[in-house]
Amino acid sequence: MERYRKLLEHVAPAHQEQLLRFWNELSPAGRDQLAAQLEAIDFAALNELIGKYVLQRPETEIPADLGPAPYFPLKPRDGAQTALYERAAQRGAELLRNGKVSCLTVAGGQGTRLGFDGPKGTYPIGPVTGKSLFQYFAEGIQRAGEKYGCRLTWYIMTSLLNREATETFFREHDFFGLAPEQVFFFTQGTMPAIGYDGKLLLAAKDSLSLSPDGHGGTLLALRKSGALDRMAAEGVDFLSYFQVDNPLIPMVNPLFIGLHDLEKSEMSAIMLAKTGPFEKLGNFCISNGRLEIIEYSDLPAELAESRNPDGTLRFIAGSPAIHMISRSFIEKLTAGGNLKLPWHRADKKIPFVDAEGNPVKPTEPNGVKLESFIFDAMPLAERTMVLEGRREDVFAPTKNPTGVDSVESCRAMLIDRDARRFEAAGVKVARDAEGKVAAQIEVSPRAVYDDADAAEYVAAHAIREIPAGAKLYFE
Ligand code: UTP
Repeated sequence: MERYRKLLEHVAPAHQEQLLRFWNELSPAGRDQLAAQLEAIDFAALNELIGKYVLQRPETEIPADLGPAPYFPLKPRDGAQTALYERAAQRGAELLRNGKVSCLTVAGGQGTRLGFDGPKGTYPIGPVTGKSLFQYFAEGIQRAGEKYGCRLTWYIMTSLLNREATETFFREHDFFGLAPEQVFFFTQGTMPAIGYDGKLLLAAKDSLSLSPDGHGGTLLALRKSGALDRMAAEGVDFLSYFQVDNPLIPMVNPLFIGLHDLEKSEMSAIMLAKTGPFEKLGNFCISNGRLEIIEYSDLPAELAESRNPDGTLRFIAGSPAIHMISRSFIEKLTAGGNLKLPWHRADKKIPFVDAEGNPVKPTEPNGVKLESFIFDAMPLAERTMVLEGRREDVFAPTKNPTGVDSVESCRAMLIDRDARRFEAAGVKVARDAEGKVAAQIEVSPRAVYDDADAAEYVAAHAIREIPAGAKLYFE
């Protein structure tokens, strides 16, 4: 009774007594679980968020001085910039050789749109082999380490919901050839789901409905998990950040790493030229001298559609969520064990148990999940840097089973990238009337990490032609 009373005192000031509604029915283990979940919550702080984000619908304020962010173009503008890019690529390679860089993959999302049962990183993306996203990255990390004579540590953020399944997958596959100690799993925080009436929802009589707190949770989770300490101990200063659903990414990019360092940037980003004013990418903007990303849904149409005198979009720079982040910046932001990033509201259909204890699966959104986003750290940086990337070389997101940003489009982009690399090395690749590769090919990133590798590989294996209809795996 004493325990119940204490918990009630904890939740009552925030008017969340309904969470203890089934207490008398719970097993000892159920009580322990619910009590631990409730005790972990600062209800006064949560109540503020509920008032701000759930009971009202916050509008993103668009600053009056908002302008497009400057960036380093794909092709250097002049001789001085050419020299800078050359120096940066050398600097990046040197930082890699000196073990100053680690990889960071955020893999804690729920992959709802993909509708795949299991952590998204275990999805069989390989166009020919069906190898998983995780394997794809692991092979690239291994080859990059070999090229730069370093052993890259790979930090992988999971959520409470998929940590175990993710680790098991790695163990079952012998870490895809990586040394187990090269891979550091850590778990992001959770946030409780909140009904439209401001009441927290129960997923079961003995459990809150909890979900991952967004990729913004990465920064604090890096500190809490000891990842930052490990980086410091190993002398690693920079993280190469990418999302688990983008296998086209070069896991480490010397030019990007080097520019980040030469520009003394704390957090940098790759930008892509948007395909149209309303492409669903965050927009790189600048306001009051600070870089910020405004979500596509928040950028007013007149700004999204505004054009330069030459007809190009003013807000051309979209974000594919590829970053370089300095360890010192994360240490600064998370000092004291707190990180204040804004929250974003997502309206969702959230299963819950009702007042009678019956499970309900809503068909319409019934509540809100709150998430923070990593890119909201950019305005907090003293210095930032944005570099243009070539879409077909860096960004093939796997969000949906078919259509835009899908498994299909991702596989096609992987095939096309490998075909282009082979073509550049002198291979004749069959293409159809529309220019699409007319064969299914897959090249292991363990064998070919970049264009230079492709040229060597093609020469060593005397590859001359990829005929139409072929299905080939190169490893
Ligand atoms: P998305 O926003 O695309 O979400 O995540 P998702 O969970 O993969 O897919 P949907 O929206 O449910 O369909 C972009 C990246 O951020 C990671 C994801 O794993 C993915 O790599 N992420 C997202 C986290 O690590 N944690 C989160 O809480 C959210």
